[in-house]
Amino acid sequence: MKIISVVGARPNFVKIAPLARALTKHPEIQHLLVHTGQHYDPQMSQSFFDELGIQKPNINLEIGSGTAAEQVGHTLIAFEKVCLEERPDWVIVVGDVNATIACSLAAKKLGIKVAHIEAGLRSRDYTMPEEINRVLTDRISDLFFTTDALANENLLAEGADPESLKLVGNIMIDTLEDKRAEASALNPVDVVSSALLDSTKHNVSELVDEQYAVVTLHRPATVDDSAKLTEMVRFITETVAQDLQVIWPVHPRTRKQLESFGLWSKLSECPAVFLTEPLSYVSLLRLNMGAKMMLTDSGGLQEECCILGTPCLTLRDNTERPITLREHGGLNVLVGTDIEVVQAEYTKALNFTRAPFRPPFWDGMTAERIAAELAAL
Ligand code: UD1
Repeated sequence: MKIISVVGARPNFVKIAPLARALTKHPEIQHLLVHTGQHYDPQMSQSFFDELGIQKPNINLEIGSGTAAEQVGHTLIAFEKVCLEERPDWVIVVGDVNATIACSLAAKKLGIKVAHIEAGLRSRDYTMPEEINRVLTDRISDLFFTTDALANENLLAEGADPESLKLVGNIMIDTLEDKRAEASALNPVDVVSSALLDSTKHNVSELVDEQYAVVTLHRPATVDDSAKLTEMVRFITETVAQDLQVIWPVHPRTRKQLESFGLWSKLSECPAVFLTEPLSYVSLLRLNMGAKMMLTDSGGLQEECCILGTPCLTLRDNTERPITLREHGGLNVLVGTDIEVVQAEYTKALNFTRAPFRPPFWDGMTAERIAAELAAL
């Protein structure tokens, strides 16, 4: 059997790494890895391949940046050619990025079966490009690998065939468990000083576990709106940075927006704020292990915080990952972007202590389960 798996953007790499490894134990499966090239900066792409030991992609489509239509359109055309040449039996897509919908659509139109890893997550917010990608991918997928029972419920409510649902757990947690020991051995001072954007900061050596917050923001809804981003920067510099040190690995989109809205200097001049390049997987994992609190709009970090027990304030109005919320056992709180609400939840979270929560099957063995299912097809 021939399988093509697809990666495009940073969050895909941590999900494909354990699968690629697990597939090597099934010699009856021929596995090709395609990188669409959506993320291409060394820190957004190659560093993950090196660090996570992912095989060199057999094919790189080198799509690069662009509007959503340009990225999806170029990928669709390029990946169709790959499918026509390689004629795989299955195409495996992960997550919710532009590569996910573009490659599943190209394959499906050619009658090639599609399996979606991390299927069934729903924020029900169609202003998010990821929600559109998720829903459309699931609509045409033949096999759904899901992270939790809530995702199964979503898919069943949308009419998916129960036989096609495989609750296998969260493949990203395979990578977390694989890298836990390596990350533990790092020192947060070394992690931050080696990636610091503003080298004039001299109190990096004062970084101590449980006394810093980690901030990550990259969603268009949070960072493309000048008023919202300005409020957020004010909250971080005038409130959070008064209580805790703040480590903020800056995504390329966010950096561009902070600069164009004139917020960069306010942030970098704040003595307790450490702005860094995008961090490697193990570096961010290490910081998460010692963070007093995570403030984020990321999806994957909500899940990693859940396993590590880091109190997490999700700066969004909704989440496609409700299993991580307090009502389901996690410490994640949806706080939106209204600063008064954020402030109130932040104050409460200062009193939380680390409390890990592991949903069923988030055990580091998800890739093995997926590989076994694929081998049995
Ligand atoms: C994409 C995913 C998002 C994911 C995120 C993780 C979609 C719709 N979104 O968003 O779900 O959480 O990746 O990072 O697929 N850029 C660089 N270097 C790079 C890549 C991008 O500088 O290597 C710049 C681009 O020029 C662009 C911006 O970053 O201005 C955004 O990149 P893009 O690929 O459009 O999406 P992300 O916001 O990264």
